[in-house]
Amino acid sequence: MADAQSPALAEVVLGRPKNPDPDAACRFDQVEAPVTIVIFGVTGDLAGRMLMPALASLFAGGHLPDNFAIVGASRTDLTDESFRERMRTSIAEHDGISPDLWDKMAARLTYRQVHYDDPASFRVLSDYLDELGQSAGLGGNRIYYLAVPPTAYEDIAINLAMAGLADEVRGYARLVIEKPFGRDLQTARILEQALHTRFAEHQIFRIDHYLAKETVQNILMLRFANAMFEPLWNRRYVDYVSIMAAESIGVEHRASYYDHFGVLRDMFQNHMMQLLSLCAIEPPSLFEAELVRDEKTKVFRALRPFTQRDLAENLILGQYASGMAGGVRAPAYLDEEGVPSESLTPTFAAMKVYVDNWRWQGVPFYMVSGKRLAAKRTEIAVQFKPVPFSMFRELFGDHIKANRLTLRIQPDEQVSLTFQAKAPGPMCLRSVTMNFNYYQGYEGPALTAYAKVLLDCMLGDQTLFWRQDGVELCWKFLEPMLGDPAPERLYLYKAGSWGPQEAGRFLKVHGLTP
Ligand code: BG6
Repeated sequence: MADAQSPALAEVVLGRPKNPDPDAACRFDQVEAPVTIVIFGVTGDLAGRMLMPALASLFAGGHLPDNFAIVGASRTDLTDESFRERMRTSIAEHDGISPDLWDKMAARLTYRQVHYDDPASFRVLSDYLDELGQSAGLGGNRIYYLAVPPTAYEDIAINLAMAGLADEVRGYARLVIEKPFGRDLQTARILEQALHTRFAEHQIFRIDHYLAKETVQNILMLRFANAMFEPLWNRRYVDYVSIMAAESIGVEHRASYYDHFGVLRDMFQNHMMQLLSLCAIEPPSLFEAELVRDEKTKVFRALRPFTQRDLAENLILGQYASGMAGGVRAPAYLDEEGVPSESLTPTFAAMKVYVDNWRWQGVPFYMVSGKRLAAKRTEIAVQFKPVPFSMFRELFGDHIKANRLTLRIQPDEQVSLTFQAKAPGPMCLRSVTMNFNYYQGYEGPALTAYAKVLLDCMLGDQTLFWRQDGVELCWKFLEPMLGDPAPERLYLYKAGSWGPQEAGRFLKVHGLTP
């Protein structure tokens, strides 16, 4: 496939800027080993909306190895041709790809009908993969991406293993799954046992697409590639940390899933916990998957368990009522199609948690996430303590506003630092903000989160993936909060607002009011 590559592979894999900054330190990884990517559930929403466009962008950017194949697999009866046509439409609806490049990519796409609970189907698939591997010189490296409902994970894992497809004799065999990893601690363990009897931990890639967001990856760089933040990054100087993931959309067409999960399982057990861990971890001795994940595990272990009192005082759950969102009338959660009229599923949660260790003792971490809020905004605020003593007290009084570091994860990705400065002219102290726009001065390609995880999976780098111990510790922490709230403890908020009144103190830290 060398003809499809434009710049040298090494230059594009992690995106070399067009005008390389001579001071920039870059690591340019290369995917060279041939691979066959089998996508189960390829006719579904995730594959069409995210995976195929991500693969197309990797292909267009020259990121894929010279020799690769994509095999679509699902229950639907399709020919190779009709499969290619579907994928062409999906890609065209998203990022698009030139007709010329599409023809080259389409030649790598084939389709096989597979019944997930039928071992015979997997034996046929295995024969096909062997045949394809030999005729196209693909070798034995395989990625199995399970873009299917989690209820199908176990069947697919068992049947892959029974057909010999989990063996790593002639190359790697990697299983990619996405949350939810269970619905609570018990079901997460059941899933884990089912997968682990067939695949070893190093073969399982548990995606959290937040970890692959550029600005989330940047958190560790900001903290540990600079000398000036880390000395202050602790209980002596930090007053609190606040993490917010606000969404303006409602449940969309996913009510049957969402109503069973709610915001705590959908956003907190995974994305929010990862953001928290990145803010709180100790510096690993090396930026390497196991060492980074070891440190995250220590944070999850140090989460102070919620008591009955915390449930009453430090957890606010809400559900959206009707309102105006984005200038149009939005229905209440209970009126969304597929939501039971009595549902007590929370679509909003705010909580105050503590990390009980030497660095963070006594520093609250506020966490807020919800659907149908006034805007889409994911943001981390590190609020520093005020100066210990004001020598300016006779001029401005005792109170001087404290510093704040804000990491805007999305949209308008930026890092801003608010500090005090003298205003020009009269003796006035004012708060000013220095902004670093994340994309400023960069003209190279950006990788979408799904492109990044697919790439890392081919590279065998698990840094941005969940490890099972972390999954279980987070379920354990959330467990006391997972039952249906009492109706009077589920606060309604207007669609298009910033959440229930009761969450005011959590939102205030982001300068928002309910
Ligand atoms: C998903 C959740 O994991 O993340 C969705 O299931 C949520 O409910 C989505 O909308 C948010 O992701 P992003 O990238 O849009 O912030």
